[in-house]
Amino acid sequence: MAKILPAILAHTEEEFVEKVNRVRALGLPLHIDVMDGSFVEDTTWAPPERMRELLDGIEYEAHLMVSNPEHAVPVWIAAGANRIIFHVESTTRETMICRATSPHCDQLIIALNPDTPVSRITAVLGDFAGVLVMGVVPGKNGQAFHDIALEKVRAIKNIRSDMIVEVDGGVKPNNAAALAEAGADLLVAGSALTEAADSTIALLEFKKALDEQEPLLRVSP
Ligand code: DX5
Ligand code: ZN
Repeated sequence: MAKILPAILAHTEEEFVEKVNRVRALGLPLHIDVMDGSFVEDTTWAPPERMRELLDGIEYEAHLMVSNPEHAVPVWIAAGANRIIFHVESTTRETMICRATSPHCDQLIIALNPDTPVSRITAVLGDFAGVLVMGVVPGKNGQAFHDIALEKVRAIKNIRSDMIVEVDGGVKPNNAAALAEAGADLLVAGSALTEAADSTIALLEFKKALDEQEPLLRVSP
């Protein structure tokens, strides 16, 4: 079944701690949004050197929405992120980044904005553990989902069924089942969990949507 990852997009230490505390009890690994004010307009508060202390044992992946990710990727590996995601639109050196981080290549995920076709990464897919398909233009949470993400998930799974496929942005209980059916392994949910009145109830809504999908998936060829 597809797994849900709460996204932490914070502008201050207080917001970061508050969001982590809201979802900590869910017992899920986290997705930490990192923005540099260059690749995207916004800037987040997410200092890598503080993650061990702030997350205190919670597993996490780092979503780097930054220019020149070749500098940030090794920093986040050292900070203990179990997956590091960077955007193909942020570099022309995606293969070099992979080689330079060896033996950590199996922790690298390449991300695609809604306007970037899967064909942009077909040739380099073998260098990465997975692909993160954006359901929104990166930069902020709470935006509406672009349906093109569904087609991309299917296309990537058709090319390489063994790759991890994540979807991030605009993921809600009402599109989770369709994304899982398309082949998504990890669904990143920001506002649906961190801004819900009760994150536990919000997670149950995701689980209910995915459970209803499960029998259909089991009979699929
Ligand atoms: C968008 C971020 C997402 C965002 C998800 O730039 O990468 O991870 O926090 O938030 P929602 O689920 O509200 O779209
Ligand atoms: Zn993200």
